Amino acid sequence: MDKSKRKAVIAGNWKMNKGPAEAAALLDELKPLVAGAGCDVVVCPPYVDLAVAIEKTKGTNIGVGAQNVHFEQSGAYTGEVAASMLTELGCGYAIVGHSERRQYFGETDETVNLRTKAAIAAGLTAIVCVGENLTQREQGVTMDLVRMQVKVALLGVEAASLAKIIVAYEPVWAIGTGRTATADQAEEVCAAIRAQLAELYGQPAADSVTIQYGGSMNAANAAELLGKPNVDGGLIGGASLKPADFAAIVKAASV
Ligand code: 13P
Repeated sequence: MDKSKRKAVIAGNWKMNKGPAEAAALLDELKPLVAGAGCDVVVCPPYVDLAVAIEKTKGTNIGVGAQNVHFEQSGAYTGEVAASMLTELGCGYAIVGHSERRQYFGETDETVNLRTKAAIAAGLTAIVCVGENLTQREQGVTMDLVRMQVKVALLGVEAASLAKIIVAYEPVWAIGTGRTATADQAEEVCAAIRAQLAELYGQPAADSVTIQYGGSMNAANAAELLGKPNVDGGLIGGASLKPADFAAIVKAASV
């Protein structure tokens, strides 16, 4: 597999951590550490930090993304944020369908599809999250489930828009648990995701899509995971809150 056909992307999902002042401080620390990165670097702080993050990262190699995006353009959707609002602010990315949103906020494959389409229509790159929980892994349905999640998330997404799609494979049982998928487990599912993309869009298009692994990726295990042919990057939770650790992962992806 020729990985040079696609971008390596390391994205930090800060989840519900850091207010604006802490975000500014973290970015000041991070900027010099990743300045020479050989991969794309993205941070996804809470909504209230986006303005300061965009200001702080101006003129740097760090892109900024939101952790969610609504599918309507405007209207009576209390608490939601539209894709056009994110692009107006200067965001380049939005995470869509993270397992925590599926688990705690009623996100479904259908709403993931709507959010994905809204994000790319506004010019954002959608980081579309998929992944099985422990029960599903034990039931042996991981591949079927993940393929279905990918298929539904991308319903109505044209091949021409694939450049605006990153797929993040995040096994729920590995998120925040310190229990990482082995590099072989990550590779197996990321390869299945690429096979699903090839079924939908053809092999050359599938080969151009960045597929990330996420779930307790850290400075110590990143190189092995990222060394796999279908693991093109990482979506990092806990370790993205520590600039030195995040920078080490960026370095591991920069070879
Ligand atoms: P952790 O890296 O903390 O396991 O979180 C992964 C994740 O959910 C990133 O979106």
